[in-house]
Amino acid sequence: MHHTPGFGRLLTALGRPCRSTAGVHIARRTFVTHNCFASPSKWRGSRYLHHGQERAKNPTTSGVVGRLDLRYGYSAIILLSVPVFFWLGTGNGSAFQTLQAEAPPDQDDEGDAQLRKRIRLDEVKEHGPDSERPWVVRGQSVYDITEWVAGHPGGEVILRAAGGSVEPYWKIFAIHQKQEVYDILEQYRIGCVDERDLVDGQVPADSIINPFVDDPGRDEKLLVHSATPCNAETPGEELGGFITPNRLFYVRNHMWVPSVEEEQYRLTIELDDGEEKTYTLMDLREKFPSVTITSTMQCSGNRRKHMTEQCGSTNGVQWNVGAIGNATWTGVRLRDVLVDAGFPIDAPPADAKHAQFTGLEAYGASVPLAKAIEAHGDVLLAYEMNGSCIPRDHGFPLRVIVPGHVAARSVKWVQRITISDEESLSQWQRRDYKSFGPNEGAKPNWSRARAIQEMPITSAITCITGAPPVPQPKAEMNASSGEEKKNNSDVVLVEGYAYSGGGREIVRVDISTDDGKTWDQAELVPAENHGSKLWCWKQWRYQIPAAEFGGCILAVKATDEAYNTQPETYASIYNVRGNLATAWHRVRV
Ligand code: HEM
Repeated sequence: MHHTPGFGRLLTALGRPCRSTAGVHIARRTFVTHNCFASPSKWRGSRYLHHGQERAKNPTTSGVVGRLDLRYGYSAIILLSVPVFFWLGTGNGSAFQTLQAEAPPDQDDEGDAQLRKRIRLDEVKEHGPDSERPWVVRGQSVYDITEWVAGHPGGEVILRAAGGSVEPYWKIFAIHQKQEVYDILEQYRIGCVDERDLVDGQVPADSIINPFVDDPGRDEKLLVHSATPCNAETPGEELGGFITPNRLFYVRNHMWVPSVEEEQYRLTIELDDGEEKTYTLMDLREKFPSVTITSTMQCSGNRRKHMTEQCGSTNGVQWNVGAIGNATWTGVRLRDVLVDAGFPIDAPPADAKHAQFTGLEAYGASVPLAKAIEAHGDVLLAYEMNGSCIPRDHGFPLRVIVPGHVAARSVKWVQRITISDEESLSQWQRRDYKSFGPNEGAKPNWSRARAIQEMPITSAITCITGAPPVPQPKAEMNASSGEEKKNNSDVVLVEGYAYSGGGREIVRVDISTDDGKTWDQAELVPAENHGSKLWCWKQWRYQIPAAEFGGCILAVKATDEAYNTQPETYASIYNVRGNLATAWHRVRV
C-alpha cells in the first residue's frame, strides 16, 4: 500500500521537497487531510497524548494527559461555525494590532531551565514551513511543533503558522480557543520570546503574519459582508443574466485564498484501499475528455436575511438574494479520473461510500460516492469558469463541481480526493451545513441531522425597473423645476431567478401582487444549457402596468418538475443556522 506522508503534502502542493514522516499511517478513514487516526472518537480523545519529548517533569503535561481523556466530541466543533466572524470587521487591520500576550509561565513552578530559554523572533522565523523543525509563537511562548504536525487534525495547514504566531490562524479557526488545545501546545514549549523583541511586553504586530495578505482584489460592485475571509454577494441588479460574470460571482470563502502556481499544483486521489495516484493539471487536461456543464452554485445560507427578518435570529452571514450564481464549468469528470486511479466504478466495494474533498487551505467536505461516480451526475474537476481559467476566489487551479448540490460540497482549490467509508470529518460536513426542525432551538442535535447535499427549490425577485417613484414629501420635489418627479414608463418589469437542486427543471414561476391572494405566471426566459440534467437556474420576468403598481406586496414562488414548491412562510422551516431559507420571496413595493 502506498501512502503519501501527510506532513509533506502541503509542501508537495507548493512544489517544495517532501519530508517523510516516520510512523504516519494513513488509514482508510480519513480526517481533513487524513492523518493517522482511525476513528473520530479516537482522535477526539486520548490521541492527544504527548507525541514527542518526554516531559514527565512538567506538571502541566501530566495535567494534560488526564484532561485529554475527556471525550469532548463534535459538540466542540460548533465553535467553528462562528469562527471566521470573530475575524469579520478586521479588514481594518485591527486583528493585526499587537496581540494580548500571555504572561510567561511561572518559572519557579516550571523547574525546567530549557523552558526559560529566551529566543529571538529572528530565530523563530528560521523555523518556518520549510524547516526541519517548525516553531510557532503563542503569546510570549515559543513552541517546537515538529512532533505534533503529523497528528494535527487540521492537517498540514498548521505549517502556515510555522516561523510566526499561531494567533491569526486561531482567530479564524476558533475551535482552537479552548483549554484542551492550549494544553496540547503547552507540551511543545521550548522557551519564551526574548524581551528585546517585545513592545510593551508583547509580540509586535509586524511580526504577525496576515493570512489574507495574498487574497485577490475584488470587484467594487460586490456587496461585502466580511472582508477576511471574503464573503461577498452579487447585487440583485447584476443577477439578471443567465450567466453570472466571473468578476461578479458571489464569493464565499472560509479562509484565505491559497496561492499556488499551476506547474506546482498536484491533485492526489486516495482510494478506499489506501492506493494513491497523483496528477498534475496538465495530466488532467491531456489524459481525460474535457466536459462543459452549466451549473448554478448556491450557498446554503442564500436568503438567510429573509429568514432572520421574518422569523428569528440565525447564525451566519446574512445573505440577501445574491449568494447564488450561474456559470459554465469546464473540466474532467471525476468518475473518469477515479477509473484511471484504479477505482472499480462498475462494482464499487461495499465500504466505499463517500468521496471526500480537501482544499489547499484545509477546507473539507464530501458527497455520497453514488453522486461522485454517477454517469449522469456530471461531477467535474473544473479548471475553467465561463471559458476562462477559474479565478483564484473561485478555486484556481482546480475546483470540484457537484452540480445540483449545495455549493459547500464543490470544494475549491481541491488538493486531495479520498474514497472513504464515512463522510468528511470537517465541521463543514458534520456541523455547519445542516438544517433542523423549527422546534430544535439554538442548540440542535448536530450529529442527528443530515448534511445538506441536494438543494431544495427556491426563487427570488432580484430587480424591479420602471417603478413609479414613491410619492415624495414637498421638500423632496425636483429642486430645479419645482415639479414632482414623474415615472416615464408604462410598465414595471419585475425580474428574478428560480432554481431547484438535483438537476430538477423549474417548470413554473408564480407571482402575486397581493401577497399571495391571487396569482399569475411569470415568463420563463429560455437559455442554452450544457449538462446531463438541468443543473442551472431559470431567469423569469413579469410586467405590471405602472398604474397598478405600488402599495402592495409582491410574492414569488417556483415549482420544479417533481412539483416541489416553496413554503409560504419561514415559520415551518426556521432553523438556527438559517440554512435553506426558501420561503416565498416577498417584497413590499
Ligand atoms: C500550533 C498549534 C496547533 C494545535 C495544538 C492545534 C490543535 C488542533 C486540535 C486539537 C484540533 C481539533 C479540535 C477539535 O476537533 O475540537 C485542530 C483542528 C484544526 N486545526 Fe489546529 N492546531 C494548531 C494550529 C493550527 C493552525 C496554525 C491552523 C491553520 C493555519 C490550524 C487549523 C486547523 C483546522 C483546519 C482544524 C480542523 C477543522 C475541522 O476540519 O473540523 N491549526 N487543531
